[in-house]
Amino acid sequence: MNETILIIGACGQIGTELTAKLREMNGKDAVIASDIREGSEELMSSGPFEILDATSKDDILEIIKRHKVSQVYLMAAMLSATGEKYPDKAWYLNMTTLFNILDLAKEGEIKKVFWPSSIAVFGPTTPKQNTPQKTVMEPTTVYGISKQTGERWCEYYHDKYGVDVRSIRYPGIISWKAEPGGGTTDYAVEIYHEALKEGKYTSFLNEESALPMMYMPDAIDATIQLMNAPAEEVKDRSAYNLAAMTFTPVEIAEEIKKHIPEFEISYAPDFRQEIANSWPQSIDDTAAREDWNWKHSFDLESMTKDMLENLGKKYSK
Ligand code: SER
Repeated sequence: MNETILIIGACGQIGTELTAKLREMNGKDAVIASDIREGSEELMSSGPFEILDATSKDDILEIIKRHKVSQVYLMAAMLSATGEKYPDKAWYLNMTTLFNILDLAKEGEIKKVFWPSSIAVFGPTTPKQNTPQKTVMEPTTVYGISKQTGERWCEYYHDKYGVDVRSIRYPGIISWKAEPGGGTTDYAVEIYHEALKEGKYTSFLNEESALPMMYMPDAIDATIQLMNAPAEEVKDRSAYNLAAMTFTPVEIAEEIKKHIPEFEISYAPDFRQEIANSWPQSIDDTAAREDWNWKHSFDLESMTKDMLENLGKKYSK
């Protein structure tokens, strides 16, 4: 049977590229993009689009029925930095949307769900290097608490109600098509924009802040690969660790300097430093590699080349 896919949060950083890739693979009419607000002209004109407030289960159900949706990718969330400013809103948005989708799957309205988790599920008591799939998890941000709780509920709905839900703990995601919004890892995107526009950047994280990161094409491939894996290969129904690279602000700046020698970085850490300090520096993703054959393609060098090329074209238009 042909699948019809609904993407919630399609105008966000990951949603934008996920929508484009799934439309390329499945045909534009098989992928319904939705968001609380309109997105880029490119996204809006590339196939069906619905305005959707995913905190309303009735509104989601109406769209699912009208378009005969069988799979949902729930990409709407409030991220770590914004979540600390609006804790109650972050909790409400992140949990209500997840329960709406899990309940619709439990009620048989949809067959398969993707819901993203994050390295934010880990906290200061988690081993920082090569963080294992199963380890101490004491997140200290509202976002991290919502993701950890969400993971538990995903596994619960799978085990008790047979819901086919799949999840990844994304590291910081770097991309050039759509801006990230409200994350602690966003500096690693801003730095490329500012390097091209201003030749300098002031980082809101300090020199030593090593964090796990990934280039968007790898994140999109992993997401679709996990969703298309046979159910029996998806042995972990909480969320899979996923890794590609780790770098500090100093290291990314050095890589940028290979292309823009005059580039200068300075540091003015703010409240996001404490969030970064609480997260792992590198991730052990053996389970994803073994269970569903995940492998990454991009490292810091190849990502930087691609980012600067694509953003360069964007700015020269
Ligand atoms: N990029 C996210 C954030 O910084 C991590 O999931 O909040």
